[in-house]
Amino acid sequence: MTLTPETNRLALRGDLLDFSAAPGWGELESAAVRFQPDSWLLIENGRIVGTQSAAPDASWQQQDHSGRLILPGFIDTHVHCPQLDVIASYGTELLDWLERYTFPAECRYADPVVAASGAARFLDALLAHGTTSAVVFPTVHKASVEALFEAAAARGMRLITGKVLMDRNAPPALLDDPDDVAGAERDCIDLISRWHGQGRLAYAVTPRFAPTSSPAQLAMAGALCRADDSLYMQTHVAENRAEVRWVAELFPEARSYLDVYARVGLLHPRALLAHCIWLDEEDKRVLAASGAQVAFCPSSNLFLGSGLFDWPAARAAGLAVSVASDVGGGTSLSLQRNLLDGYKVQALLGHRLSAWAGLHAATRGAAEALGLAQEIGHFGVGTLADVCVWDWAVGPVAEARDAVVRSLHERVFAWMALSDERNLVASYVAGHPRFIRAQLLRSQDSSD
Ligand code: GUN
Ligand code: ZN
Repeated sequence: MTLTPETNRLALRGDLLDFSAAPGWGELESAAVRFQPDSWLLIENGRIVGTQSAAPDASWQQQDHSGRLILPGFIDTHVHCPQLDVIASYGTELLDWLERYTFPAECRYADPVVAASGAARFLDALLAHGTTSAVVFPTVHKASVEALFEAAAARGMRLITGKVLMDRNAPPALLDDPDDVAGAERDCIDLISRWHGQGRLAYAVTPRFAPTSSPAQLAMAGALCRADDSLYMQTHVAENRAEVRWVAELFPEARSYLDVYARVGLLHPRALLAHCIWLDEEDKRVLAASGAQVAFCPSSNLFLGSGLFDWPAARAAGLAVSVASDVGGGTSLSLQRNLLDGYKVQALLGHRLSAWAGLHAATRGAAEALGLAQEIGHFGVGTLADVCVWDWAVGPVAEARDAVVRSLHERVFAWMALSDERNLVASYVAGHPRFIRAQLLRSQDSSD
């Protein structure tokens, strides 16, 4: 075959792991797990074109990561860009945490210079944690949305975000004008027309949560979703008990917190609801019927003392669940750290989260939830090569543990529980290296 001059062929060697489908809950040996030890992942012009055990020919640029783990890039389905500045803030539950730490940090994003540098720092941090796609909250300020879309486009990343809608119960610097709902609507429509569907970018209608939007603003958000079913929607629901009580006071006509959103048409297959801890059976039925998705945020739920999300109960109700860091409520962008927290939350409820269920939720499961499985989340032919290379073990404890594993699940579970961003060797976005560990760069320099 003759190659056009611009054909770009990259082959990565390592232990390839991805999923062909969802593994069963608690299943430790699963046909859905595709593990190809010491194999080559073939990437042509940014897309995966196959895997094979033999080395490819010299038309391929070869990168030998043998003895390392290669996974699809992680997908964080709920994270806040401006909250890197308040990660690990002491001593509060949700509502006080918002008031004392989070809202002041978000006020700074009114400045487009702060928003631009914050967006760049945030996306580089995601890439340095093995997360190549994300669903992100910026702030209420239009400039913060522009900054995120621009920074994601510059990195070629799949990113879903949208202007945060809030017009009450927060500092004035974070509020849309409550007497001009059409003003915030115009901002959204303008951002949608310029960014939604551009390359790998998509817009999410983003009412922060019921307490910070007037009924009129929530109705406007619902109307935006109804007008274009390709739009995503992201919000928070039923995270904290004081929050749930407050919503009951603010919306006495609603049957439940979730019902506030259901009534205005915010629940649909492209809706992502973070937390969902304090839903009742009727809520779960309504949510499942709507096709909306749950983002489980274990680190945040533990750190803010919000509660324990029952994953098997959500599954039994027919809900799709992905895993999210919810930084700055969560204390790490590392999805392995979040999965380990998720394991502990499930253990407290008497369940066990397998490495397969966890890693599937952070890759293919999230891609399917977002309707993006044709693009990301696995190594299927034709998907974009968002791929991360990881060390199996870093440091004497993890190395000793890795040396004595007796099964694939045991090995991958120990990796999930003991690894974090220090294990990351490289992140590729559509075949381009966007993060390379400094040590690796130094050793490449010295071998030149
Ligand atoms: N509920 C409303 N806003 C927020 C937020 O920024 N973080 C979390 N964890 N919950 C919220
Ligand atoms: Zn959140």
